[in-house]
Amino acid sequence: MSKRYSVIKGFRDILPPESEQWQQIEEKARRLFQCFGFREVRLPILESTELFSRGIGAATDIVAKEMYTFADRKGRSISLRPEGTASLVRAYLEANLEQRGPQKLFYAGPMFRYERPQKGRYRQFYQLGVEALGYSGPAVDAEIMAMLRLLFEQLEVKKAVLEINSLGCRECRPAYREKLAAFLRGVKAELCEDSQRRVEDNPLRVLDCKEEKCRAVTADAPSVLDFLCEACRAHFEGLKKYLDLWETLYQENPRIVRGLDYYTRTAFEYLAEDGLGAQNAIAAGGRYDGLVEELGGPAVPGVGFAMGLERLALLLPKVKSEEGLLDYFLVYTPGMREAALKWLMNLRRNNLRVEMYLEEEPKSLKAQLKLAAKSAERLIILGEDEQARGKVIIKNLKTGRQEELSQEDAISSLKPQREVI
Ligand code: HAM
Repeated sequence: MSKRYSVIKGFRDILPPESEQWQQIEEKARRLFQCFGFREVRLPILESTELFSRGIGAATDIVAKEMYTFADRKGRSISLRPEGTASLVRAYLEANLEQRGPQKLFYAGPMFRYERPQKGRYRQFYQLGVEALGYSGPAVDAEIMAMLRLLFEQLEVKKAVLEINSLGCRECRPAYREKLAAFLRGVKAELCEDSQRRVEDNPLRVLDCKEEKCRAVTADAPSVLDFLCEACRAHFEGLKKYLDLWETLYQENPRIVRGLDYYTRTAFEYLAEDGLGAQNAIAAGGRYDGLVEELGGPAVPGVGFAMGLERLALLLPKVKSEEGLLDYFLVYTPGMREAALKWLMNLRRNNLRVEMYLEEEPKSLKAQLKLAAKSAERLIILGEDEQARGKVIIKNLKTGRQEELSQEDAISSLKPQREVI
């Protein structure tokens, strides 16, 4: 026997019926995003490494430790994208979209980070992300949070808590950063190794450390919200006003700092109250008013988020079986095979999910029924007797109910069990 191969660590196959649940999530999200005016961009999975080190920040964990980076055949350094925002801004600038006024764009697809795999954390994971470029006021920040709330409602994800913060801007953040670093220097010895390292390079990330001892030591750390400049404060107050108006519940959490350097002002996360364990952020994002400039463009503000599909799927009821996969299973008596084959294609042309026994060796009606019961609740029975009378039988296997339809009406009157995606 030849060797069999396994999927590599941190990567997953998404098989039916889970893949069908994903299709439903994606379909609902796409539809909703479009209701809010977002249009899809399909982005490449590989980008130049420099795009991410400039965009996300060379000192972030994502860029410094987690990227899949390699030289291509010409020796250029390229990376599998660890996120979509930097790529989207690159595409926006490359297509000169800034000349067309504000843009609302979304993307979907796999991202790659070499993190330690655990529940809800993989090395390849799927994000659905949106970015609004060219909007400077807080209404759009609130709008995308309200949009996520609507999506969770539609998917019946109940326990998602929205936490918001403001990270200030170029004007006011340096003073906060200095104040925080001074505080952290005083308690440095009590911090974990990673946090100790961050005291000087990236003190805000210390607030994000999951270690119990770091949480305890930083409980009294200065809050970023006490250091906001007038403009950042007004933006944050505006955000809260719009969230109230759209009845989008939230909590302020001054410890949200995010792991990417591009954020200014608004930062937010939707956290699952239970069902996910430590990796409980279902969606996260914020404002990045300096990123377009950082990537060589004009001063265009931006705000967006990305949602992790694996984490969202973990919160939904598990899809149990293949039951109800098809709308109908078509069974036929031996002399009716050719007629059945023709019916099969016409039914599908009418958007119905239908299968029949396709192999050449004859199978009794009983054996076909056994096959049918595995994948459909309803049968279409095509027999010689019915054919002679221009009829066809429709049978519901669950209720046992059976009815005869005229062949003329059947195709147009048969309905899908559920929406076809
Ligand atoms: P992020 O917080 O790095 O932000 O990721 C967003 C979401 O992706 C997380 O909340 C989580 O649901 C999911 N996610 C991240 N890493 C993993 C992983 N290893 N395994 C499974 N799921 C994961 C960003 O990526 C920003 N680009 C979001 C954004 C868009 N900000 C502004 N615009």
